[in-house]
Amino acid sequence: MATSNSNGTALITGASTGIGATYADRLARRGYDLVLVARDRQRLDSVAVRLRSQYGVQVDVLQADLTDRASLAHVEQRLATDSRISLLLNNAGNTVEGSFVSSDIDKVENMITLNVIAPTRLAKAAAARMAQEGKGAIINIGSVTAMMAETFSGTYSGTKAYMLNLTQAMQVELAPAGVRVQAVLPGATRTEIWERAGIDINALPKEMVMAVDDMVDAALAGFDQGETVTLPALPDMADWQAFTAARLALQPNLSRSTAAPRYLTA
Ligand SMILES: NC(=O)c1ccc[n+]([C@@H]2O[C@H](COP(=O)([O-])OP(=O)(O)OC[C@H]3O[C@@H](n4cnc5c(N)ncnc54)[C@H](OP(=O)(O)O)[C@@H]3O)[C@@H](O)[C@H]2O)c1
Repeated sequence: MATSNSNGTALITGASTGIGATYADRLARRGYDLVLVARDRQRLDSVAVRLRSQYGVQVDVLQADLTDRASLAHVEQRLATDSRISLLLNNAGNTVEGSFVSSDIDKVENMITLNVIAPTRLAKAAAARMAQEGKGAIINIGSVTAMMAETFSGTYSGTKAYMLNLTQAMQVELAPAGVRVQAVLPGATRTEIWERAGIDINALPKEMVMAVDDMVDAALAGFDQGETVTLPALPDMADWQAFTAARLALQPNLSRSTAAPRYLTA
């Protein structure tokens, strides 16, 4: 018989497969009860059955298309009111293949809704309650493409850059209230997302592609180490720190009362 446990409950979006299903396994192993969210009820149920029997945790299934406003509102409501939920994993996402000019703009809009609007609303619902309670954690799944606009789809990478910015701002705002926020920026990870977008992951050099178990284990190690931004593949964190320092060094000069001398041509 499953019993409620001290780690609380993790709500995971996109838990039916891939990165989300792998987090579900690892968090159940750590003793979290779970709320699994995605569209495919059958797959969610089979993840739930396995995790209940393997780890003895409570698992609820919440079938929801997060691009549907009413379904999204239902999940927001759960996050806003269920104080057993101590961890939100904002993971559900998709990508759209092709160049910007040739892209199907309706698919792009759907992706932006799933990758940006949904996690923003869910993060806000969870963060407001967690800040009041003085505890909790939110993990936002971004992507290294946030730094790869020149070589990857601008719309997808833009959604992931948004998640990075949001996380960095949320961490500054929420840390004093006792709420942790982490962005995880995976590189190419072997999941269905590629096939769903019609991209052959095997066309990538195999040294660029990480197994999903390794990616999630590294991301959780970064979480345990208290990182705000975790780059599972980046060998030397000093490279990220140098990048951040260079970005922050721009700040004093980014907004001034006069234009830069190079533009004073008149
Ligand atoms: N794999 C990579 O190389 C990679 C790299 C960097 C970042 N990421 C990010 O990692 C996250 C997870 O991706 P993944 O690689 O694990 O992809 P995946 O294997 O395709 O899984 C995506 C998950 O999101 C769910 N989902 C998709 N559309 C949804 C919707 N409208 N409403 C609710 N749930 C929906 C899917 O379940 P249903 O179909 O059942 O709804 C599934 O559980 C995404 O945010 C992705 O951008 C992935």
